[in-house]
This record gives sequence, C-alpha cells and structure tokens, in this order.
Amino acid sequence: MIPAAKGKNPRHPMRVLAIESSCDESAAAVLDSERGLLAHELYSQIDLHQIYGGVVPELASRDHIQRLLPLIERALERAGTSKSDLDGVAYTAGPGLIGALLTGAALARSLASAWGLPSVGVHHLEGHLLAPLLEADPPAFPHVALLVSGGHTMLIEARALGDYQLLGETRDDAAGEAFDKSAKLLGLPYPGGAHLARLALEGRIGRCQFPRPMLDRPGLEFSFSGLKTAVLNATRRIDEALTRADIALELQEAIVDTLLAKSLRALEQSGLSTLVVSGGVSANRRLRERFERELRKRGARVYYPRLEFCTDNAAMIAVAGLARLSAGERDAPGIRARAQWALDTLRPPGSATHAG
Ligand code: KG4
Ligand code: ZN
Repeated sequence: MIPAAKGKNPRHPMRVLAIESSCDESAAAVLDSERGLLAHELYSQIDLHQIYGGVVPELASRDHIQRLLPLIERALERAGTSKSDLDGVAYTAGPGLIGALLTGAALARSLASAWGLPSVGVHHLEGHLLAPLLEADPPAFPHVALLVSGGHTMLIEARALGDYQLLGETRDDAAGEAFDKSAKLLGLPYPGGAHLARLALEGRIGRCQFPRPMLDRPGLEFSFSGLKTAVLNATRRIDEALTRADIALELQEAIVDTLLAKSLRALEQSGLSTLVVSGGVSANRRLRERFERELRKRGARVYYPRLEFCTDNAAMIAVAGLARLSAGERDAPGIRARAQWALDTLRPPGSATHAG
C-alpha cells in the first residue's frame, strides 16, 4: 500500500511508530506496510493558545513534553503493537517551531535507541503531500500538488516520492493565514479557517468584492497579504446590507478562486492531469466543490487527504517515515531538528542520507 523505493529490498512487512510535534498538535501513529494504518492519536493545543490569538512557541514545547508519551502509549495499545513488533520510529524533524520539533525528535530518538530500532526525521511538508496515500484510491506520481496550510501555500511538481520541484509559492501570507487573519477581523476564534467557512454558509453572494491577487500576472506565485486590508475595510461597512457572513463568503470565494486558477495554470504548464490538494485549507468544503467541478470539466482528477488528515497529524508522518525507513534511510548520530528546511532539497527514499 505504501510505496517503497524501487530497486531496494525493503524488509516486509514493516511497522513504524510516528510522532508529530512541529506546531500546536501532538500526535502519534502506527502504520504497517501491509495492514495499513493501525492507530492514530492526536491532541490539539488550540485551547491553550486561543487566548493569545496564535501559537505561543514556549507553551507549545512544554505541552508537547506532557502529551507525547501518553499519546504514544495509547497509539501502541490501540494498534495492538508492542515495541518488539516495531521496525522503526519516524518523527517530524522540520520545518516548524524549533522547541516543539526538538521535543518530538528527542523523544523519538530516545525511544528508538532504547528499543534498538532505526529512526528517521521526516519533512513535515512531505508528510502533508503524502497524506492522500493513506486513502483507498491514492494518487499516482507524477502529479501537481497544491499545499495549503497555515504556514505554506505552494504549487509543487511531485515527480516521484521524494522528488519535488517547487513551481510557485506565496510571497507573503499563506492561504490559511489569510483565512485566520480575516477570521480574527470578523471576531472569530483562532484558528479561524473552519469558523469562517461555517459563517460563510449564511452569506449572500455579491454584497462586497475582494481582489484575486496576482491572477493578472503570469507565473505561479501567490500573495494573500492584501486581502486582510480589504476585509478590514469591508468590516467598517457592516450593516443590514453587508453582514459578517457576506464578507466571510466573498473572502472564501476570493481565496478559492485564486488557488484554483493557479492550480489549473500549473497543470497546464506541466502537462499533468492529476492534482493533489493537502494541508489544513484542503479541508475547506467550498474549495473541494469548486476544484472537483472545474477539474472534472477538464478531464483531470483531484485528490485530497481524508478530512482529519488535512490538518497536522502523525499518520502522514508515518507514511513518509515508512517509505524512507523501508529504503534503508537512517538518522545520522545526534538529535537534530530544523526550523527551516526547503522541500526541494529532499531526494527519493534511499538515494541519499536523510538528515534529521
Ligand atoms: O496544515 P495545518 O494544520 O497547519 C500547518 O501546518 O500550518 O493547517 C492549519 C490551517 C489554519 O490556517 C486553519 O485555519 C486552516 O488550516 N483551516 C481551514 C479549514 N480548516 C483548517 N481553512 C479554511 N477552511 C477550513 N475548513
Ligand atoms: Zn502542517
């Protein structure tokens, strides 16, 4: 089910424990190369950070330390797995909040060392890109991937597992950030994407207008930072003729239109007919409706992770980790994590030493 590197001789079957702690979700999962996903556990720190209107890195790190071990124990128990059934440990090694990453990296490497298992550090965005491989009808390579999360908005040509070429990204705010900042201006709790989408259900079309940033220019770059000013200006005109819900609806339309137009452009330029959309914003219902309709019209197909694997989770880290561990990748000695880590520096599993 989970692809292993071609030409290698992966040990079969292989079972890995995976840990995610790059931002404000602590998570653990157990994935088996033949039996699939056996368990996944998640604790979201949203309540902890909500009063600050965003993630507080120091609080996030401290909370991961408290949450991770019980989550791991529960995941192993639910998966009916003991340490002797495991073949490796994978964890998110970056990009993300460095303190938060280090809690997961230190724990993963300590467990692997105590249990005599190999470990591998996974790129968080590769995890997002590979999350749809957990589904019954997974996308094939090559494809175009649109990665839309709270921190990233990227179009990528995914030629093979581990072979990613960046086609374009945002120059400023990410799409999720545009949702979150606009939601804040509309008085919604953090993180506001899902709240804003719910409010938009009551909105009326055409009550205000927002720009579709960068659509008039060639290329595959995005810019969402201007939208929050447009939303701020609109909130000053709120009355019976323009409600918060109307603004939410039009903002969502502007973001979805922009993401869709650039994704279609990327498919056209690359000559590919498969699109994978992943990351937190790919949970958006309106986005899924629009993308499905427009891609079908063009004889192309779009794939997503299941809703719970759009936002951060350990199951997606397990997919990337299993692919890399089964190809013989191992961490170099020492505990390392990276706040910044360019996706296109990755190589296909087994083709280079993977630096965790
Ligand atoms: O992938 P993710 O969990 O975290 C990062 O790695 O950044 O994505 C979180 C982002 C947040 O900005 C959140 O508001 C957004 O995904 N999001 C949504 C929806 N659900 C989550 N945005 C729009 N509509 C949604 N339904
Ligand atoms: Zn993420």
